[in-house]
Amino acid sequence: MVLGVTGCIGAYKACEVLRELQRRDVDVHVVMTEHATRFVGAMTFEALSRHPVFIDQFALGAESEIRHVSLADAADLLLVAPATANVLGKFARGIADDALTTLFLGTTAPVLVAPAMNVNMFRHPVVVENLEMLRSRGVGVVEPGTGYLACGWLGEGRLAEVPDIVDAAMAALSRRRSLAGETVVVTAGPTVEDIDPVRFISNRSSGRMGYRLAEVARDRGATVVLVTGPTVLPAPRGMEVVAVRSAEEMARAVAEKAPGAGIVAMAAAVSDYRPAAVAPGKIKKQDGAQKLDLVRTTDILESLGEAKGTRFLIGFAAETDDLVENARKKRMAKRVDLMVANDVSRNGAGFASEKNAAVLIDAKGQTDLPLMSKRELAERIWDRVAELRARA
Ligand code: CTP
Repeated sequence: MVLGVTGCIGAYKACEVLRELQRRDVDVHVVMTEHATRFVGAMTFEALSRHPVFIDQFALGAESEIRHVSLADAADLLLVAPATANVLGKFARGIADDALTTLFLGTTAPVLVAPAMNVNMFRHPVVVENLEMLRSRGVGVVEPGTGYLACGWLGEGRLAEVPDIVDAAMAALSRRRSLAGETVVVTAGPTVEDIDPVRFISNRSSGRMGYRLAEVARDRGATVVLVTGPTVLPAPRGMEVVAVRSAEEMARAVAEKAPGAGIVAMAAAVSDYRPAAVAPGKIKKQDGAQKLDLVRTTDILESLGEAKGTRFLIGFAAETDDLVENARKKRMAKRVDLMVANDVSRNGAGFASEKNAAVLIDAKGQTDLPLMSKRELAERIWDRVAELRARA
């Protein structure tokens, strides 16, 4: 893993973090900012880590430029402890003007930051916003403690305790490997059922929940197949993406990909009905009411439940009434291991939103999760999957 050290008084504690991680058999490479070297010499980290310390990607010309790429590729975790307001701002806004900030942009490894700063800086709206932005993109935060700060103030902003930072890093590393060797199929987005060449039936799903679920599965080591209905989202990196349009196309794609998968997550909002026939030409208006003949589509999740075997099934229940009761019934009916229930009538959550609040329902009971980013929710869903499968 990579330990990033930035310039504040807490930098000396990074030495203890490094030692503690080494005690747990973690190989640590250190990247420092220029300011960090004013608090602790690079030599200290070099001697402790037994690897060269990386500070300036331009210092030694082409070779070290390549090094930030190789470190970014090889890293299984980037932990930044302590993380100053400055580095959090750069991470949040994508500024890459030194080795650490360049590495942050170049790595697909999980990132954990342990902020440390004066209490007023920690509470400044721009710092609060930057941290919130980073959290919503999946960056983990080891919350600072409260106490006497080096500047003499009493308040929040003190670097978290070393054991807490190390535990958070170890948990992130184990999550990172929690789906290693697994093949996961995730469906996402709406389906589109054509009526004629210009009209269709669809729904308000944006695809975000499924995309985040697929990305987190990839980050935890799974081979991922994302079967997606039409969305405006960019195709995620590092997975096979199968684009489909209708419920029937989605059903065919899942039937083709599921046999190789130990886990299927049906996050797509699949249309329950489609027009009985697609009109070959545009339907012209007439006087009076118009009727549309609809027929049922295949229930993909139900079909997977019927041929379940040892495959782990994740279903989603989008409800406006009796959330838990309806989701519980669907879980039983479709033989689903974990049902993610969300109330789509709630403001600021669900369809087309970046955030969601959900209830996870499984054979052991239910877990109520507050409003959080879909990325965080995806992390919590995969955490629960790992717990349930470990117990099975
Ligand atoms: N689902 C599916 N195939 C369908 C319809 C739904 O695989 N044709 C899956 C969804 O991807 C979701 C779960 O079933 O994981 C629940 O979907 P939902 O539409 O909420 O429930 P339905 O069972 O369709 O019931 P209803 O529409 O009556 O609420």
